[in-house]
Amino acid sequence: MSYATALRCRKCGREYPLEPLNLCDFCFSPLEISYDYKRMAKAVSQEKISGGPPNMWRYKDLLPVDGDVVDIGTGFTPLVKADNLGRELVLDHLYIKNDCLNPTYSFKDRVVSVAITKAREFGFDIVACASTGNLAASVAAHAAKANMKSYVFIPSDVERGKLVGIAIYNPVLVMVEGSYDDVNRLCSQLAQRYNWGFININLRPYYAEGSKTLGYEVAEQLGWCAPDCVVAPAGSGLLFTRIWKSLDELSMLGLIGPVNTHMYLTQAAGCSPIVNAFQSGALHVHPVKPNTIAKSIAIGNPADGYYALRVARQCGGGACAITDEELVEGMKLLAETEGIFAEAAGGVVIAGLKKLVASGVIKRNELTVAFITGAGLKTQEAVAEVVHPFVIKPTLESFEEVAGNQA
Ligand SMILES: Cc1ncc(COP(=O)(O)O)c(C=O)c1O
Ligand SMILES: [Zn+2]
Repeated sequence: MSYATALRCRKCGREYPLEPLNLCDFCFSPLEISYDYKRMAKAVSQEKISGGPPNMWRYKDLLPVDGDVVDIGTGFTPLVKADNLGRELVLDHLYIKNDCLNPTYSFKDRVVSVAITKAREFGFDIVACASTGNLAASVAAHAAKANMKSYVFIPSDVERGKLVGIAIYNPVLVMVEGSYDDVNRLCSQLAQRYNWGFININLRPYYAEGSKTLGYEVAEQLGWCAPDCVVAPAGSGLLFTRIWKSLDELSMLGLIGPVNTHMYLTQAAGCSPIVNAFQSGALHVHPVKPNTIAKSIAIGNPADGYYALRVARQCGGGACAITDEELVEGMKLLAETEGIFAEAAGGVVIAGLKKLVASGVIKRNELTVAFITGAGLKTQEAVAEVVHPFVIKPTLESFEEVAGNQA
């Protein structure tokens, strides 16, 4: 049995049984999983985790899951020491957490693996989600593995490169004429009407916990310690809050020392409601209408924006917005220095990191981890201008005519 004890309202603290529920009946705030950390602490150790499977399920004791899991091989992605990029940005201890290397090429496999496992435990036959693109691919793939039917809803302007990567798993793929916020609103209505497991709606508290494995892995890969600085993207803001929670939990369980990590959140300037609130000192996040090529994080009304804002403030971190031009430069810089092709959200992270270092917010000697959460082949249109090959006949002369003599 897992160490999860209840669902707890983040605002008023009311508790609910561990069921497919995401909002408090009294104050409509999000519910979060509570654990019996005393019992959990007795069960976990660095040795036990290190001896576990080379995937996210080595952290099963820290997740709200009871029986067999739905696993397509997610997690334990590389933490790359990024010396070339570090030299470029003047950072001595820079690491890239490369979560492009998950089965459907984004970190969403982590959240879905937990949520669909719970969907099966709760007896749902059908799963569904509201997605900006990556989540849909992951839900469809996991549903295939679990022999479940899936309905995935995406905005109609999703990048072309994402469509095949969703459809290949044979879900019911529904394109909604509207923004992600419209898709999400529709799915909330559908969740009231149909008895489906909506991965990021009625199963959201479980889904959220999957993101913690990113932080656990980083701490383990650093030799059981927390980084000084984290730079991560924010759409709904949930991932950002869970990286923080993961480090906090490891410390509470005695697996790492005290955590003094500064958490920096990055968004595209064309959709930066959380950054706006951070910079203006506002208590609440005001919705915006998205207009950016970073579509996977183009969420104008972020469900966990308030909590992400609180994390950034509480840990002495920050928030930074990046223009589309800057994010394209970020994608290119990461590829050219580290050989990692990130999607537009990754470009936002790298450009944000660059800004934070250049402005002296992140210091040269601070151990910094940048989270790359999705792969670039899905958002090729963002950098299509890099393609300008030499076109030649298959002869030496033709090569040297265009390229000059390279001997
Ligand atoms: C590649 C990628 N990075 C980051 C995010 C943001 O995650 P969250 O909504 O938890 O803030 C998403 C969300 O779809 C994503 O697809
Ligand atoms: Zn409440």
